[in-house]
Amino acid sequence: MSRCIAALTVAIGMVALVSISIGAQAAPKMPGSATTPVEKEGRRIFVQRCAVCHLPLTPEPRKSYGPLLNGVLEKNSEDAVRQVIANGSLNMPGWRYTLTADQINAVIAYVKTFSK
Ligand code: HEC
Repeated sequence: MSRCIAALTVAIGMVALVSISIGAQAAPKMPGSATTPVEKEGRRIFVQRCAVCHLPLTPEPRKSYGPLLNGVLEKNSEDAVRQVIANGSLNMPGWRYTLTADQINAVIAYVKTFSK
């Protein structure tokens, strides 16, 4: 009986350990707050197309491939940001053939809600 309880305790401990390590690798909270329908559409697009590079999704040490976009619209004009998104850069794909102008505007509206 006591051996049985010991085995059960070990089993429960292992389940707890596994869930802790899964929890540690869970995706980080999405930045910003999407409240309007346009911002929500922007968040949906951001999750699908941008988060892979612009959020630290890797396990520890968390690092993102591209820069976090907090404050990017305070440092740059909206037009400059729109150009980067449309044309991409050396390390970033351009989106002018895959996203419509409205979709790019929606992403920008969502990124504007990121805190600095
Ligand atoms: C393949 C990875 C990747 C994806 C996907 C990606 N980006 Fe980027 N992005 C980058 C990198 C890397 C940079 C930094 C510029 C460079 O190194 O060329 C960047 C730069 C930017 C910048 C300029 C940041 C600054 O501080 O000037 C903006 C704005 C931006 N990305 C927005 C987006 C948006 C919006 C999406 C989704 C529609 C997106 N990116 C998708 C990799 C990516």
